[in-house]
Amino acid sequence: MLSWDDDVTSTSAPASQARPQPQPAALAAMSADAPDSSGERRVNAADKRIINGATDVNQLVPFKYKWAWDKYLAGCANHWMPQEINMQRDIELWKNPNGLTEDERRIVKRNLGFFVTADSLAANNIVLGTYRHITAPECRQYLLRQAFEEAIHTHAYQYIVESLGLDEGEIFNAYHEVASIRDKDEFLIPFIDTLTDPAFKTGTIENDQKLLRSLIVFACLMEGLFFYVGFTQILALGRQNKMMGAAEQYQYILRDESMHCNFGIDLINTIKMENPHLWTNEFKEELKALFLRAVELEYRYAEDTMPRGVLGLNAPMFKGYLRFIANRRAQQIGLDTMFAQEENPFPWMSEMIDLKKERNFFETRVIEYQTGGALNWD
Ligand SMILES: [Fe+2]
Ligand SMILES: [Fe+2]
Repeated sequence: MLSWDDDVTSTSAPASQARPQPQPAALAAMSADAPDSSGERRVNAADKRIINGATDVNQLVPFKYKWAWDKYLAGCANHWMPQEINMQRDIELWKNPNGLTEDERRIVKRNLGFFVTADSLAANNIVLGTYRHITAPECRQYLLRQAFEEAIHTHAYQYIVESLGLDEGEIFNAYHEVASIRDKDEFLIPFIDTLTDPAFKTGTIENDQKLLRSLIVFACLMEGLFFYVGFTQILALGRQNKMMGAAEQYQYILRDESMHCNFGIDLINTIKMENPHLWTNEFKEELKALFLRAVELEYRYAEDTMPRGVLGLNAPMFKGYLRFIANRRAQQIGLDTMFAQEENPFPWMSEMIDLKKERNFFETRVIEYQTGGALNWD
């Protein structure tokens, strides 16, 4: 009889012990979508692997990667929808000719110009790419939740664009028209293309490194670095009682993104642990170059969006902030830090990320967002 705890593995011990370990040559040909060749045999958690696994991806339990399941539950508990947030004060402020300065308006438009398409790129990367190559069902379950959250984020940005009556064509096409945005996306796209290429399969060192590289670019440099100038700017507006609705939307997005980033880092570190041969010195050097390039691109975006000081922020402050974040991301995946230890010039951003969201930061309303995940069934 099946039980819903990890002990389920022990009921299948005889069959599992008899099961041969998959050989590397067989792994190369094995698709994540293919059924487990052992067919009728029950899944042994110890046999599960994040990549190139041979266990049935449709059997969520027995759990091996409990951290991924816990993040799935946490993501569900944080559920929110953009239209729950009142945008009326933002609309009044935006329509008032004296409501915001030109520099503040530039920040809002550039910001949306990047984000309205960034989360579609993120969703494509998950649904058309990453998901196919991950053979741990707990991680796939989280990726499905993450993909829906990316849809909610695109919805939130669209909702702000619509609320403010911005020119949709200008905002949604900005990733072609605005160089500082286009350059960031052009940096990312080859790594997304690797994973979404229908012919790409893991199972060789070269391809497993390609997968790992793309996962690192996505979690550490896209979600973990490229979002941070934009988030800081909109949240800085909110801290000055401007665009509070947009800032509240961004606050929930930031909470989701920091979970995506943390999941990605756990995923990367587990793949490293299971496949230590992938983590060569040459590979680490390549990653370092990618980190440096990403910091440079995000800094150019900071300069473009803030030609002058605005909201108590200016581009040079972000040079320190981006180095601080890049060092942190490097440490999180076991790389050496690449900049002299930088101070965080925006400690209030950490409060935003770490804040328990029983009450939202801007206090535009009081709401309990914790849903099903917090229920106790005992
Ligand atoms: Fe997102
Ligand atoms: Fe994300």
